[in-house]
Amino acid sequence: MSIKNICCIGAGYVGGPTMAVIAQKCPEIKVNVVDINPQRIADWNDENLDKLPIFEPGLKEVVAEARGRNLFFSTDIEKGIREAEMIFISVNTPTKTYGKGKGMAADLKFVELCARQIAEVATEDKIVVEKSTLPVRTAQAIKDILDNVGNGVKFQILSNPEFLAEGTAVNDLHHADRVLIGGDIATAEGRKAMDALSDIYAHWLPKERILQTNVWSSELSKLTANAFLAQRVSSINALSALCEKTEADIDEVARAIGSDSRIGQKFLKSSVGFGGSCFQKDILNLVYICRSLGLQEVADYWEQVIILNDYQKRRFADGIIATLNNTISGKKITFFGWAFKKDTNDTRESAAIYVADHLLDDQGSIHVYDPKVRPQQMYADLNYLNTRSEKENEEFLTVCTDPYEAAKGAHAIAVLTEWDEFKTYDWQRIYNNMLKPAHIFDGRNILDHKELIKIGFKVRAIGKAY
Ligand code: NAD
Ligand code: UDX
Repeated sequence: MSIKNICCIGAGYVGGPTMAVIAQKCPEIKVNVVDINPQRIADWNDENLDKLPIFEPGLKEVVAEARGRNLFFSTDIEKGIREAEMIFISVNTPTKTYGKGKGMAADLKFVELCARQIAEVATEDKIVVEKSTLPVRTAQAIKDILDNVGNGVKFQILSNPEFLAEGTAVNDLHHADRVLIGGDIATAEGRKAMDALSDIYAHWLPKERILQTNVWSSELSKLTANAFLAQRVSSINALSALCEKTEADIDEVARAIGSDSRIGQKFLKSSVGFGGSCFQKDILNLVYICRSLGLQEVADYWEQVIILNDYQKRRFADGIIATLNNTISGKKITFFGWAFKKDTNDTRESAAIYVADHLLDDQGSIHVYDPKVRPQQMYADLNYLNTRSEKENEEFLTVCTDPYEAAKGAHAIAVLTEWDEFKTYDWQRIYNNMLKPAHIFDGRNILDHKELIKIGFKVRAIGKAY
């Protein structure tokens, strides 16, 4: 079976880049990306490629190559479904904010809506691919919806979780470590559908990197891959607290640990805490599933990864307050960075939001500079926490478009995102224009601390005793 027409429901951080790369690498396949959000679709269709809704290095070039040729963005979801032989569901699956499982379980309402819409619209057999991250055994729920419409249409359901990381999405898609395809491996129809999807990825990835498993292993592997990655960050962050008390240096410890080839160097960068739309959500979901199945110890084990991450964010904010003589009321504190990591405009669950919220509680005056995040997004992030009124958030948080202006007259600078440009600033100039003593809190350990100390800064960093 050779696929000629794909529809992807959800034009977000996953749907957009993933489909752009599939369209780029498979010019003979028509790829329609559809979304209920008209603004998002308009942004994907904007002539000016700098206005794409997502900032990702290399994405503009891929979209420029494929858009209008075989890549299309539209709000006509029904047409997209009707025409496609293969439909990807790539909608958001946030943590539930209400009812049973509130604050823990994944909210599957958007996925369910997609399944119902597919069931209503489809008149021919389709392959439905779960691209969203979903709790193990969700494919059964989707199957129940699709198989009970009674219109004779047959559906194959595949799980094909996405492993891209933001900021490196295009590169991750071009050079994926592996692609995971879960399906009904026990039946000929199931295997045929899995092979059809494998053939798409085989346009640019070696066959041995395309793994086929049963559908439940695929669903669970995605949740656990994120849990393992987040666990590494929480492990190194736990040690950073110990380093600060013992004069061990976290970067030296990370290098020493990571030199063991069984452990490896990656994902051992101590920080103010992990953010992003996936880690916390997926671990909470894993914890919820374990608890629901009576696996209390397993649930507690994974929950600790989140507890440690919350501790790290709070510890960083408390460190700022303590260093500034336990009072920051009215003091200007400049944030360099708001995004949850460099090279993305995404701020979901960014550590910066929680550190800001904590400092605003102590009546600090926060001035933020981030090269890619828009001011409305920063205010929306703070307002979402509901800690204080929108008016107060606007009064005490100022968004700046120039880093030097942002730092002028400040008592302290806190680095919240590891944007490369921060390393290249004229730090002497910044120092000259700050109040003295001039403090720097490097939440990403990216600056040249020795140099800053030489200039006269008082430096505090993660996992460093100075
Ligand atoms: P997102 O919020 O950026 O995008 C989701 C899009 O789906 C939105 O544009 C929304 O308008 C649209 N949508 C919601 N319901 C719809 C419906 N019924 N019909 C049409 N469109 C609808 O989310 P995302 O970051 O792309 O994540 C999508 C999924 O991929 C999630 O399950 C997430 O866990 C998973 N994932 C995300 C990442 C990541 O780095 N962001 C990586 C791997 C996996
Ligand atoms: C993650 C997974 O890496 C990806 O495979 C999955 O598909 C989606 O979730 P993402 O959240 O986009 O990707 O970025 P990632 O690079 O994993 O970083 C997550 C957070 O951890 C960021 O806040 C980052 O700054 C932080 N981090 C990461 C560290 O603090 N230290 C590290 O060593 C690595």
